[in-house]
Amino acid sequence: MEELRAKYLDAIAQAADEAALEDVRIAAVGKKGEVALKMRELGKMSPEERQVSGPALNALKDEINSALAARKAALVDAALEERLSSEWLDVTLPARRRGQGSIHPVSQVTEEVTAIFADMGFAVAEGPRIDSDWYNFDALNIPGHHPARAEMDTFYMHRADGDNRPPHVLRTHTSPVQIRTMEKTGAPVRIICPGGVYRADYDQTHTPMFHQVEGLAVDKDISMANLKWTLEEFVKAFFNVDNVELRFRASHFPFTEPSAEVDLRCSWKDGQLRVGEGDDWMEILGSGMVHPKVLAAGGIDPAQWQGFAFGMGIDRIAMLKYGIPDLRSFFESDLRWLRHYGFAALDQPTLHGGLAR
Ligand code: DAH
Repeated sequence: MEELRAKYLDAIAQAADEAALEDVRIAAVGKKGEVALKMRELGKMSPEERQVSGPALNALKDEINSALAARKAALVDAALEERLSSEWLDVTLPARRRGQGSIHPVSQVTEEVTAIFADMGFAVAEGPRIDSDWYNFDALNIPGHHPARAEMDTFYMHRADGDNRPPHVLRTHTSPVQIRTMEKTGAPVRIICPGGVYRADYDQTHTPMFHQVEGLAVDKDISMANLKWTLEEFVKAFFNVDNVELRFRASHFPFTEPSAEVDLRCSWKDGQLRVGEGDDWMEILGSGMVHPKVLAAGGIDPAQWQGFAFGMGIDRIAMLKYGIPDLRSFFESDLRWLRHYGFAALDQPTLHGGLAR
């Protein structure tokens, strides 16, 4: 017994880490360890012998167990000590300068648009950026063969080999959120949906990811007049001008009937955009009365309800309002650019505080 004691206390003292210590524990006091085997031998002893050996073996087991516990605590302490000395932080160093970043124009303009439409009773809805081709196309009255699918330079998601279901897409516009929202809330509904969209295109005014805001108002008596008033109110507040003039130009979108592209009267004197004056017209969005098939796809009865919808490029109106010449610069993460065009974190757009700079 004395041999066992010396052997295991020594092994415990030598164990270099918790794993080695565990091995020693199993060999000594584990179910099939040496001490357990010795205890089994008690049965073969005479009662006198057993009276001496039994308590001695129990005492040995206790002694080994407490040595194990003590060594384990020491190893944990040593590991912590080691970490503390290798991972240290000089808290006396001066703090890093704060306020280096700023709010990106896309975020700022999204907030501005949201504030204006919220004031007119529009809630904000969201949908996924990866969507099924049903939500992105079919439900919006763009069937499989429709040229709009090709025109949109769609990014398709890869399906596993042998999976013949139609692929998901990176949404090419925010219009699928119209369908998702109608499904969820039914009519009446009044929402905007700002968010990122994707098309394979890249030049001064196109990037593969950009941002749109969708608008949708469905009720019993919504007309083009409501659309026109809503958009005029928006443009007045957004560009901070009272005398806006909008031109509704007949157009075509599969998801609206009739459809109109909306232009804004403006001038570009000295390369400076002035809204509401001059003889130029600038296209700012697409819109129309929601197509009956689109209402039906959203689970709304087109015999009872009607509505208007519009879709506008957030980055585009940000470029116009803040005089930013190249869309690609929005997504280059250049801090110097952001310092120039960014907004202070406390510069929260509110209608009462004023939206323009
Ligand atoms: N989804 C269209 C696009 O990305 C924009 C658009 C046009 C949205 C007319 C609408 C709409 O809701 O009525 O080009």
